[in-house]
Amino acid sequence: MHYLESAVEIAREAGALLSHYFERRVAFETKGEFDLVTEADRASEKLVVERLRTHFPSHGIVAEEGGGHTSASDYVWFVDPLDGTTNFAHGYPVFCVSMALEYKGRRIAGVVYDPSRDEMFSAEKGGGSFLNGRPVRVSGIAHLKESLVATGFPSHKRHKNPNIHFYHQITLRSHGVRRAGSAALDLCYLACGRYDAYWEFNLNSWDTAAGVLPVEEAGGKVTNFTGGPFNIDSREVLGSNTLLHDELLKEFQAIISGRVEGLSNVAEYFSSNR
Ligand code: IPD
Ligand code: CA
Ligand code: CA
Repeated sequence: MHYLESAVEIAREAGALLSHYFERRVAFETKGEFDLVTEADRASEKLVVERLRTHFPSHGIVAEEGGGHTSASDYVWFVDPLDGTTNFAHGYPVFCVSMALEYKGRRIAGVVYDPSRDEMFSAEKGGGSFLNGRPVRVSGIAHLKESLVATGFPSHKRHKNPNIHFYHQITLRSHGVRRAGSAALDLCYLACGRYDAYWEFNLNSWDTAAGVLPVEEAGGKVTNFTGGPFNIDSREVLGSNTLLHDELLKEFQAIISGRVEGLSNVAEYFSSNR
């Protein structure tokens, strides 16, 4: 599909631009309490939108920093020009360009490019999932207690977000929970078997649109927290290698219904460990 080839080419060019900015360490502004944005976000989005308008002038574009446009077309691109902005702003090399294409509301192509490792994740509907052109599959880990999983925390309304309770409970029941700071890369790491599951609350369409198809095409599964269908407007994303999905859904229901032991008492810990 030529859409995928074009997206790979554009993502690689935008990735090179981000690397240039990353080496210079750019200043950041805040869009919200902890929601950072840099000149790199804006420059990357300008490039990606310009290239998409040249290649596909009739298509619609949804872009995080507002540079997109609506259209009458059945084709819509979802662009996160820099996923991992907080990492980027602090010089922590975990970030990517994320581009996805929907046709009549169905995901048909997804590309995520990490310029720090020169890793291009790509997938098209029915065509498989790839890392630098090599096919990838989700892991074969069948039990949560043997898994490595990932999550993230949104940059807004953190004090209201219950994810710290999920982070605590799943940490107790797995080999560990990673919080690397790029939702699109988290999903792609699930697709290629580096993680065995990933979940997050309150992501935006551009955060998840490109990473979900690579997971599904690699044999993984993406739903909401009760196992219902995921769509990019969902406020809940739960992805897994499919083998772990039912166990995770059960754990999530136990956490949501309060049938789990809460966080240990900090004062008790320090009084008995000093
Ligand atoms: C953020 C990253 C992060 C996730 C946040 C997102 P941004 O995207 O994907 O991992 O936890 O919820 O907002 O702001 O760096 O594009
Ligand atoms: Ca993002
Ligand atoms: Ca972003």
